[in-house]
Amino acid sequence: MTNPSLLILPGDGIGPEVMAEVRKIIDWIGDKRGVTFDVSEDLVGGAAYDKHGVPLADETMAKAQEVDAVLLGAVGGPKYDDLDFSVKPERGLLRLRKEMDLYSNLRPAQCFDALADFSSLKRDIVSGLDIMIVRELTSGVYFGEPRGIFEENGERVGINTQRYTETEIERGARSAFELAMKRNKRLCSMEKANVMESGILWREVVTRVGKDYPEVELSHMYADNGAMQLVRAPKQFDVIYTDNLFGDILSDCAAMLTGSLGMLPSASLGAPMANGRPKALYEPVHGSAPDIAGEGKANPCACILSFAMALRYSFDMGDEADRLEAAVEKVLADGVRTGDLSNEEGVKPVSTSDMGDAVIAALNANL
Ligand code: NAI
Ligand code: MG
Repeated sequence: MTNPSLLILPGDGIGPEVMAEVRKIIDWIGDKRGVTFDVSEDLVGGAAYDKHGVPLADETMAKAQEVDAVLLGAVGGPKYDDLDFSVKPERGLLRLRKEMDLYSNLRPAQCFDALADFSSLKRDIVSGLDIMIVRELTSGVYFGEPRGIFEENGERVGINTQRYTETEIERGARSAFELAMKRNKRLCSMEKANVMESGILWREVVTRVGKDYPEVELSHMYADNGAMQLVRAPKQFDVIYTDNLFGDILSDCAAMLTGSLGMLPSASLGAPMANGRPKALYEPVHGSAPDIAGEGKANPCACILSFAMALRYSFDMGDEADRLEAAVEKVLADGVRTGDLSNEEGVKPVSTSDMGDAVIAALNANL
């Protein structure tokens, strides 16, 4: 059997700093769990621009298409703000998403008990929260035609079009059902079938796909009610599947229920590869944090938890993913805090590297 392969793209700003901590975990898994990853590392974003004059070299793109999973740190920074749009660091990330055709964006909202007081909601509403929002990423109103600003009857009119094909709805739905099978087997689909034809089709297609997953309990909710329910009683959900626009808003809303940007992982998945697992890009939700870059202050947990998602969804190592998440939870419960999490009285923040070491220590304690 060949080793699982992983392409690491640390990127810019705090990207390389948080990625160094993931490297420790990859080494730990090799040493202690006997799984060796074929890891290759390359440049993306400003770092790639500095070397190649483009934010993602063709060879890097080709490599990304070959590996089992890509793990990205972050891209961008003030140094690149004045670059032409076509070579901006973010374009590197967009190229990856587009050419890998990553249509399913997974945004977990997980609230570790030790951080429940960081939430804007009451502790008992969010403590232990563990939901997953699956957002369709490649279609819908951000891409639909016609679009533009036109003249009509002597005034301007701005037009965007919500457009979904059955294929687009179905492939995202399948990935959401597959996830639900690996979790608590509940899926809530959100649209506005009451006022939008694309929503009627959405509901029909998701219902049809659901017949292939009889073990998953499927429900439907209007997205506006979904927004209310997310802040009223978020723990009622397991997996939520929704379109690009609603998903953009609902996933940001759900993420903030849990506290800090430094804790939030994500995954973007595409079509199944020959090995049956989806094409996949994993990355923290946060950016390159130029305000703290190079100071060893960044919280590596979002990147570490993104790697945990890779273990679960790309490498069939769900047990190791659970173990890694439990290690992060233990470290937080022990009061270890990077700066972004240490606004409590008397808590001295630890460095990025100390946080990574603490996670390794917790892994060792629970071999
Ligand atoms: P940001 O996420 O980089 O930072 C926002 C705030 O959160 C900053 O105060 C930062 O210090 C803090 N923060 C973020 N991650 C943290 C972590 N792991 N630990 C501790 N504190 C953390 O967003 P911002 O400032 O809007 O953008 C900075 C740059 O990053 C820009 O060039 C932007 O285009 C880029 N960006 C890249 C993204 C990506 O690579 N996916 C996503 C968002 C922004
Ligand atoms: Mg957003």
